[in-house]
Amino acid sequence: MLCLGIETSCDDTGLALVEDGKLVDSLLSSQAEVHAIFGGVVPELASREHSRRLGPIFDSLLARNRLTPSDIDLVAVARGPGLLGSLLAGVAFAKGLALTLGKPLLGVNHLHAHLLAAGLDTDLKFPALGLVISGGHTELYRMDGVASFLRLGRTLDDAAGEAFDKVGNVIGLSYPAGRGVDELAQLGERGKINFPLPYIHNDNLDFSFSGLKTTATKCAADLRIEARQAREKRDFCAALNEAVAQTLLIKAGRALDRHPDLDTMYIAGGVAANSAIRAAFEGLMARRKGRLLMPSLKFCMDNGAMIAFAGYLLAREGYFHGLDLEAIPRGRMIPDDMRRDQVGALKDD
Ligand code: KG4
Ligand code: ZN
Repeated sequence: MLCLGIETSCDDTGLALVEDGKLVDSLLSSQAEVHAIFGGVVPELASREHSRRLGPIFDSLLARNRLTPSDIDLVAVARGPGLLGSLLAGVAFAKGLALTLGKPLLGVNHLHAHLLAAGLDTDLKFPALGLVISGGHTELYRMDGVASFLRLGRTLDDAAGEAFDKVGNVIGLSYPAGRGVDELAQLGERGKINFPLPYIHNDNLDFSFSGLKTTATKCAADLRIEARQAREKRDFCAALNEAVAQTLLIKAGRALDRHPDLDTMYIAGGVAANSAIRAAFEGLMARRKGRLLMPSLKFCMDNGAMIAFAGYLLAREGYFHGLDLEAIPRGRMIPDDMRRDQVGALKDD
């Protein structure tokens, strides 16, 4: 089964092919340079760029693998959550393809796909705890199977990546600043600056990073970090890394305490590339004698491969969508509207 995956939920246009669960090829066109001067993604520009880029990327993906559109058995597309205009560009492209090729269509939950992407490199294991940490989302899930996700917690305001991006911007790094903050943090000293851990004194599994964003921004202004020596900037970034990592760790540890049958944990999303977060979660699962699964670094970020792979997993279980598939923006629950045909489930070749 050759599955095409289409990712356009934010500012990266990603297309990939997965055959019987194995990655064939993946292309990603980043719009970072388009949005960098604005310090964040401009939705109108993002959707326009997706529409402009999708066709040529699709053509080169097929051409460089010597394939034709009729070789595709399934068209999977990120249907949300994300920026509505961006999602619509991908969903419309996917519907057009599925209709012309007479092949099934599958709308994939972008956040579930982030977590399932670990399966591109290793065997997936359920039940598990999943943490998606990206520029737009910070969500905890109980995962009981490829189509069985129960949301346990979410951010009440900003995502972890938003905190990295905005604070990084204040200290002179360009968008998206998470990676730049992390690179400086790795050269800095922990404990020189300390930020209070946000929203941990409660008994829930939700997050809130807006307070940390404000505290860190104010601290950067008070200490005039942008104009300071490199050493102070590095220590500041190490403090930000540490505050985000420890906060995530506390809530994930709490979730594991409440679900003692879970000994596997997945972390995914662009922010999962963060060195302090990776180290913190490796430590957590080692202490708990459990397993930490995460996608390889390049599949932590938004990409088409995770959509193609999630599409493959779902189609194998008989799931599909009709042309009434809707794109769902951030903030709205993704409906549980997949149809299922176990007899007609797509099979490996
Ligand atoms: O998953 P992703 O590619 O796109 C969204 O769905 O948002 O995540 C992008 C986010 C950005 O906020 C970026 O700054 C952040 O991931 N990011 C990092 C690191 N690498 C990327 N944040 C912290 N440390 C990193 N190493
Ligand atoms: Zn994402």
